[in-house]
Amino acid sequence: MEIEFVAAGAAFPENAALAIVVHEGAPLAGAAGEIDAALSGALARAVAASRFTGAKGQVLDAGAPAGIAAGRVALIGAGKSADFDDVAVEHAAANAYNALKTSGLTTLRLQLPEAASAARAALGVRLAAYRFDRYRTKEPEDKKPSITRLQVVGEGADFAPLAALADALAFSRDLVSEPPNVLHPVEFARRVKQLESLGLEVEILGEAEMMKLGMGSLLGVGQGSVRESQLAVMRWNGAADKLAQPIAFVGKGVCFDTGGISLKQPEGMEDMKWDMGGAAAVAGLMHVLAGRKAKVNAVGVLGLVENMPDGNAQRPGDVVTSMSGQTIEVINTDAEGRLVLADAIWYCQDRFKPKFIVDLATLTGAIIISLGNDVAGMFSNNDELSANLTTASNVEGEPLWRLPLPAQYDKNIDSAIADMKNISGGRGAGSITAALFIQRFVNNVPWAHLDIAGTAWKKPSTVPTIPEGATGYGVRLLNRMIADKYEG
Ligand code: BES
Ligand code: MN
Ligand code: ZN
Repeated sequence: MEIEFVAAGAAFPENAALAIVVHEGAPLAGAAGEIDAALSGALARAVAASRFTGAKGQVLDAGAPAGIAAGRVALIGAGKSADFDDVAVEHAAANAYNALKTSGLTTLRLQLPEAASAARAALGVRLAAYRFDRYRTKEPEDKKPSITRLQVVGEGADFAPLAALADALAFSRDLVSEPPNVLHPVEFARRVKQLESLGLEVEILGEAEMMKLGMGSLLGVGQGSVRESQLAVMRWNGAADKLAQPIAFVGKGVCFDTGGISLKQPEGMEDMKWDMGGAAAVAGLMHVLAGRKAKVNAVGVLGLVENMPDGNAQRPGDVVTSMSGQTIEVINTDAEGRLVLADAIWYCQDRFKPKFIVDLATLTGAIIISLGNDVAGMFSNNDELSANLTTASNVEGEPLWRLPLPAQYDKNIDSAIADMKNISGGRGAGSITAALFIQRFVNNVPWAHLDIAGTAWKKPSTVPTIPEGATGYGVRLLNRMIADKYEG
């Protein structure tokens, strides 16, 4: 998508559509009214002959009225002006794009209501226009999006950091969308290594190095796979003091989760290609920090494995020793994410002594039962970190809900023969149990765990800026939290 910010009176290129974003109640106020006057009231007539009020999500196609050099004019409802925050601007712009993307026209010109951020609108269109089409070889022309150029009327001075965000989200969404035969741990690590071109430092640890570090918990998960497990360590040192204590992010990167010997049922198993959504979010976050040269020192650690059943696979009943020294009885090989995180988190805090750790993981089906597909679960040992995450989640429109870590449930993962077991055995509080397990690997550091099993993938799309498929959930809210609370 080619993006420009233009003056209101700029000449239209050929094959352009004009989308006018308007508010509920007064759809033809301001700039919309001026355009309507130039069109001899064509918009007012179209509104009068419809149920269009300007409510959120409404689209009114006003055809191609005489008096304007655009091939199509449409009104896009943006809802009440009082509710028109940055995310609402993005959504309105995305709705405009979605309504016109296969119109056959090639340029979308967006006319926004007064005071709306043109840069935010451009972000909305870029996010909505994301597609993963690598593996389509014969899509019919009329199904392909025709809009390739965006012109937003207004000043676009601040677009660079948002363009960095859009690039990072596309990178993250691509990782999640890739099929599991392509994106195995070694390939994931290779793609992350390429981000050194943005100025990130990236180290890749293989199985021999992880063995030396004593990461028996992570390695046990990958031992049934012919693909080598990897630990990717990404660093962005953008603070004035390059040695200042970093903040840290850890991602679950199970490139495919069959369940292992505790094999999953076949129905829907293909979804488990996105069991690396946490790692993809952390990689996307590091991408945007580097892309916009954030003034912060940040570390991203990705535990990359494939969970397969095999003659060499880990068995239910196996006992593994984690890098922390704690032993784990693996009752269910499908509760593998927590085993990966146990070592990745330990490594992260041990090596980097960070200010805080946020981990992201598609950890439990139970979080989907609790919160559905629009809201992620948050668990934390620290109220300030939780509050910062919640604030950022509200601003960026990535909903989050904090759940408790009740101390009395912790004994449910005590094992008869080892320090702990990886599932409780009961049916209750599955997401909490998983979080309590992870907490046993967190020392005295503020920590938050985001269970994104429900939010990493959307089917169907429920948000105009997130097409069906990989969402990139987490990148936006973490980027925002860092920008507002941890930079400078
Ligand atoms: N990757 C799954 C969780 C998951 C389920 C993610 C659905 C996205 C959609 C995780 O590794 C898993 O298998 N969890 C088990 C834990 C159980 C064995 C205690 C689950 O949720 O069923
Ligand atoms: Mn699993
Ligand atoms: Zn999993």
